[in-house]
Amino acid sequence: MTDKDQTTVTSESSAGDGSDALKPSGDALSNLLHEERRFEPPVELATNANVTAAEYDEADADRLAFWAKQAERITWAQPFEEVLDWSEPPFAKWFVGGKLNAAYNCLDRHVAEGRGGRVAFHWIGEPDDDTRTLTYADLKDEVCKAANALVELGVRSGDCIAIYMPMIPETVIAMLACARLGAPHTVIFGGFSADALSSRIQDCDARVVITADGGYRRGAPSALKPPVDEAVSRCPDVRSVLVVRRTGQDDIEWNGERDVWWHDLVDKQSTEHEPEAFDAEHPLYVMYTSGSTGKPKGILHSTGGYLVGTAYTHWAIFDLKPETDVYWCSADIGWVTGHSYIVYGPLANGATSVMYEGTPDTPHKGRWWQIVQDYKVTKFYTAPTAIRTFMKWGAEIPAKHDLSSLQLLGSVGEPINPEAYMWYRKEIGSDRCPVVDTWWQTETGMIMISPLPGVTAGKPGSAMKAIPGISAAVVNDAGEPVERGSGGYLVLTEPWPAMLRTLWGDDERYKETYWSRFPGRYFAGDGAKLDEDGDVWLLGRVDDVMNVSGHRLSTTEIESALVSHPKVAEAAVVGAADNMTGQAVAAFVILRESAGDGGEDVVAELRAHVAKEIGAIAKPKTIMVVPELPKTRSGKIMRRLLRDVAEHRETGDVTTLADSSVMDLIKSNLDEGKTADDD
Ligand code: PRX
Repeated sequence: MTDKDQTTVTSESSAGDGSDALKPSGDALSNLLHEERRFEPPVELATNANVTAAEYDEADADRLAFWAKQAERITWAQPFEEVLDWSEPPFAKWFVGGKLNAAYNCLDRHVAEGRGGRVAFHWIGEPDDDTRTLTYADLKDEVCKAANALVELGVRSGDCIAIYMPMIPETVIAMLACARLGAPHTVIFGGFSADALSSRIQDCDARVVITADGGYRRGAPSALKPPVDEAVSRCPDVRSVLVVRRTGQDDIEWNGERDVWWHDLVDKQSTEHEPEAFDAEHPLYVMYTSGSTGKPKGILHSTGGYLVGTAYTHWAIFDLKPETDVYWCSADIGWVTGHSYIVYGPLANGATSVMYEGTPDTPHKGRWWQIVQDYKVTKFYTAPTAIRTFMKWGAEIPAKHDLSSLQLLGSVGEPINPEAYMWYRKEIGSDRCPVVDTWWQTETGMIMISPLPGVTAGKPGSAMKAIPGISAAVVNDAGEPVERGSGGYLVLTEPWPAMLRTLWGDDERYKETYWSRFPGRYFAGDGAKLDEDGDVWLLGRVDDVMNVSGHRLSTTEIESALVSHPKVAEAAVVGAADNMTGQAVAAFVILRESAGDGGEDVVAELRAHVAKEIGAIAKPKTIMVVPELPKTRSGKIMRRLLRDVAEHRETGDVTTLADSSVMDLIKSNLDEGKTADDD
């Protein structure tokens, strides 16, 4: 990507460009070598499982009747008349004519039905002994107060509200207060920078921002208000910033006309608030995620279908027994996993959850296992990158804790390599807990492909089959289903209740991104293989999206950030296989002539620049200063060759390069050491 042309996709590896993107590498390859291993469900779990094998047949026989039945999990203020309106694809309407309130479904009805005393969240702060227990009745009261406070700030149904918060109960309270008012929220992960925050606030036209002074990370307060101040200084339409006091940092700036403390405004409000019923298709939230271009996409989820989809999957895949389970999803609420499987799914089901604020190694590397022991966690959901970190730290750490309460383990966010799966099963699950490897996306809203714990004999590394009510296929370039034993592109062939409805403010991009590659089918952007049993093995992204520690990053977005630095003329970014984080960001940059050799600190300077433009999560692990980039005759950067360099491999076929000596130049530069690695 050049500095003149910041929004054009110049990848040669964009979806559908041929077989190269589909070649499994690294973990995916080792997954495929372990296909034969299987773990039957534990007998007791299978005997009492929420879902039996018959559910697949039932859903196959009449998919819409199946989803209509699942919709009974939700309390409708007005019943729906039609399950699905697919008359204008790809714009779906689910549960047409139905009205409901999401917060009512997550809270009030549990209280009304006598479950108000049940714990909704055991919240655990990072500092030792900093805990809060919120019952469903407590949470309902807090959400009503927050909703009344937002009304006082002038919030009306349809207004979008930005939330930039640590992992504290007020984050859930704020989301549900928005949902209660029909004001779609957009939660922005705390690792994003002020720049990323302001562009999202502007894109969804938020007038109110909810934040905190900071949160605890690695034993110290980490400030959140300064990036909000900086972001909001560029968003003149933001009229109020509601600030939770979490860390008590005294160095925060205060704008008396705009900023208001949560405790000043919310605490004094009434715990009474009448929830209004909204249309099933009323927007519930917008979540920004990276795509193949520089501009993040605002994924829009609506209310009825999303709640049905998340409630059903949380109940079915985690075999939820709400009266007895203690469920813990370790994701951050700033990502879709936190939305669907910390907030909406579990609360709609009346589950008891653990929520933890901090990092797994504070104050010691056994913190998570201490929490499992102390709270007798039964169902646990985390990401492969975390599992690999624990593997590195050693099995003796979890072994010091009593993990016998655990019954089921979940994985999400990236392919789980069989080694990590086996370690998770053995060292955390005592070789008795089933592991559910759940495939889904911000766009799908709900889990789509996963074992069912009481039904499926799981294979380490495979997400197995589409769950009941979901139709997926693996197709070749021409869109034809592949044979068993072959690879291709993962598509979803029927609409599903929690599907995204569009991209915020950009219907055309929605159609183009997801529905044009294989007309009539949703293209997920993932490569996959069907094994001889017809089970699905995910092979990673086939587009310009990277997956770093389960976080989704766009190569193009990072390239744009790099070329916006005055010393950079051109940049190319690839995701290089990494043992710990799945993929790592590797950048290749050509400096401007005016920058000379960039100076000694150029690499550190560029990494800091990406952190400022996007956020610390996007900082390249390696940056290599190169004299040229490998390009085809039509000017496309050949990322495949750069990936070879970044992964220390012999470079592949260079015959399509405009100038094949470029790779020699890059390699000689590497030998001279003009490159830097993180840590
Ligand atoms: O490539 C797939 C990978 O993560 C992508 C979706 O990322 P995001 O929208 O950030 O959502 C993450 C949490 C749902 C997918 O396109 N992915 C997610 N789960 C898996 C996975 N890859 C393999 N196996 C999984 N279980």
